Amino acid sequence: MSNKIKVLTIFGTRPEAIKMAPLVKEIEKNSDSLESIVCVTAQHRQILDQVLELFNIKPDFDLDIMKDNQNLWSLTSDVLLKTKEVIEKVKPDIVLVHGDTTTSMAAALSAFYAKVPVGHVEAGLRTFDKYYPFPEEINRVFVDSVCTYHFAPTDKSCENLKKSQIPDKHIYKTGNTVIDALLYTVETSNVSLNDLGLKDDLKTILLTSHRRENFGEPIRNICKAVLELVEKNKDIQVVYPVHPNPNVQKPVYELLDKVDRIHLIKPLEYAQFCALMKKSHIILTDSGGVQEEAPSLGKPVLVLRDTTERPEAVEYGTVKLVGTDKNKIVATVQLLLDEKTEYKRMAEAVNPYGDGLASKRIVEVLKKIK
Ligand code: UD1
Ligand code: UDP
Repeated sequence: MSNKIKVLTIFGTRPEAIKMAPLVKEIEKNSDSLESIVCVTAQHRQILDQVLELFNIKPDFDLDIMKDNQNLWSLTSDVLLKTKEVIEKVKPDIVLVHGDTTTSMAAALSAFYAKVPVGHVEAGLRTFDKYYPFPEEINRVFVDSVCTYHFAPTDKSCENLKKSQIPDKHIYKTGNTVIDALLYTVETSNVSLNDLGLKDDLKTILLTSHRRENFGEPIRNICKAVLELVEKNKDIQVVYPVHPNPNVQKPVYELLDKVDRIHLIKPLEYAQFCALMKKSHIILTDSGGVQEEAPSLGKPVLVLRDTTERPEAVEYGTVKLVGTDKNKIVATVQLLLDEKTEYKRMAEAVNPYGDGLASKRIVEVLKKIK
């Protein structure tokens, strides 16, 4: 019998993979005391595989569950039933899940039913509004309630956990592993953006939007705002790597395809996306991960949502909530384009989410769980 601590890491979507990759690598580096087993649910397929390839992670289990335009009910039951088999086979000492996706929630439940302790990476984020973001707010509250080890990125996330009566001894402030992934990628990759067709003499506005609560009218408003901005400003270009979700693809291609100075592109591989963030003048997004990465690259971020579970960079002034009202988006971008002082104020490089050492801190805790 091996004395090593068996760590089963389960993830399924692009952001989970990006944020778990540095941790998996760190667990592998500590193979004298830890055994790393990786299970991907493949809630995402193509955009998950891009990350696995970049970080050279070969999963021990691939549950391959993604279906076209999947729904929350079948996704939840597929993850729950299929991870049960993996957990029973591996018999891990701990299961690690990340964040707030349906994979994280159902895999945490699966481990709880098997009476295996769960570690939650990126614990304690909250908007305190159960429908925003939907279903992520309830997913993360649920994961925090079943897990034992809470790896919280910031002081705020630690406070949120304490408010939920989580004992202090189970809360570890680690920083966010996304900064580990970002710093590693920016330092080690040398990628070209030439094939995107962007012009060097135009300012680049990077847009990403995929949240469920923005489906329908909100995403159409975002597209209309972008149309108005490129019409008014001949010195800008917009680049939008469009999420593969059909609820995003359809309205975005209907409204923005083949418009001069708007580039609709496929989701970029992470290293290219980091290079694109670095090249951008302003970032418009409803993504969680991008809100954490862009401030440390010194890029102003306008968040296409009314609430955020990541208030730290808003407090620093590099991130602003603009929601999805067309006129408000246009006015806020226009102010940043026109007012140099306002732009400079938002373009401070701040790093409230981590220092690149979060995975190391988590591994130190894992080594002591037995
Ligand atoms: C999911 C997460 C969300 C996270 C987001 C990151 C849930 C409920 N939602 O939302 O929290 O912010 O991922 O991107 O967990 N698709 C593909 N190829 C892919 C990925 C997706 O074709 O590689 C299409 C499929 O038709 C799939 C659909 O997108 O059915 C939706 O995927 P799903 O994971 O259910 O929702 P997301 O909107 O991606
Ligand atoms: N990202 C990427 N390629 C893209 C768009 C985003 O690699 O074309 C990265 C981005 O840097 C961030 C993560 O994907 O780390 C965010 O994923 P997403 O927006 O899908 O999910 P969220 O963060 O909102 O959960």
